[in-house]
Amino acid sequence: MENLEEKIVQADTLEALEKVRVELFGKKGVLSAQFAKMKDIPGPEKKAFAEGLNSQKSQLQSIFDERLTILKNAEMERQLKAEAIDVSLYTGSGEKGALHPVAQTMDKIIDYFVALNFSVESGTLVEDDFHNFEALNLPKHHPARDMQDTFYFADGGLLRTHTSPAQIRTMLKEKPPIRMIAPGAVFRRDYDLTHTPMFHQVEGLVVLEKGEVSFANLKSILTDFLHHMFGDVEIRFRPSFFPFTEPSAEVDISCIFCKSEGCRVCSHTGWLEVLGSGVVDPNVFKAVGYENVSGYAFGLGVERFAMLMHEIPDLRSLFEGDIRLLEQFR
Ligand code: DAH
Repeated sequence: MENLEEKIVQADTLEALEKVRVELFGKKGVLSAQFAKMKDIPGPEKKAFAEGLNSQKSQLQSIFDERLTILKNAEMERQLKAEAIDVSLYTGSGEKGALHPVAQTMDKIIDYFVALNFSVESGTLVEDDFHNFEALNLPKHHPARDMQDTFYFADGGLLRTHTSPAQIRTMLKEKPPIRMIAPGAVFRRDYDLTHTPMFHQVEGLVVLEKGEVSFANLKSILTDFLHHMFGDVEIRFRPSFFPFTEPSAEVDISCIFCKSEGCRVCSHTGWLEVLGSGVVDPNVFKAVGYENVSGYAFGLGVERFAMLMHEIPDLRSLFEGDIRLLEQFR
């Protein structure tokens, strides 16, 4: 008996234990052989003999079961260790991802202004009437509000229609001098070849003491910026209107598709409009309680920049996630 128990306990693999099982409990095993002796045991002693044997058997069985559990657990442990996958392991193969062209364009714009010591503000996507319109000199019922088809919430809140409200938020929390850009998503109820309900803008604002900044500064910084983005293009400032700037200008670059010859993209004008800008309207400064300051501002659409820089014809393709387009921007 001692000897049999030892055999079980000393089996150190599942295979070894299986051998022991056959040896002890198998048809031709030790226990079977013991039970076979029953027939030679005289009648009166049979019962005691059988009882002894059965209790031996169940004792061995429970030692065996215990050992089996231990070895199974050890085996499981071993298997888990062997099959563990190190997901951080460098494999040296596989495809590399890349930033989306809109993100790449955004980064290029941000880097340019950060190098000029502009701060980067984010504003907020969910806005209110004051920041998105009122403080930007767009009072209620102003016809220019129609230019921006707005998503409203039931409580009167809205999704910002442009990044300009970030100007207001920054001026309300800081004092001049201010040099900031505000990149981010904006929302309008619009969907066709050249409009998506969500797109990205970058807003720019510079506010210094009165007389320290002029339209000439605006013109020079934007000219430099557009050369940085589009290379060797001609640049034209064209008088325009925005409620938050006076005077205002839209800025065009010479058409990079036809070299100003006239094509479909530039509507045969030879020019492409790329941003809006102007000298900050005094009413905007009044709304944020600024006095004796002057400043300029500008705003641009990032998708439009990306499309022009990479000659992508359909705005919507920037939002489809088609790998064949994205692969070209690695
Ligand atoms: N907020 C204008 C838009 O969404 C863009 C813009 C134009 C911003 C002129 C400006 C600006 O700061 O001076 O269309």
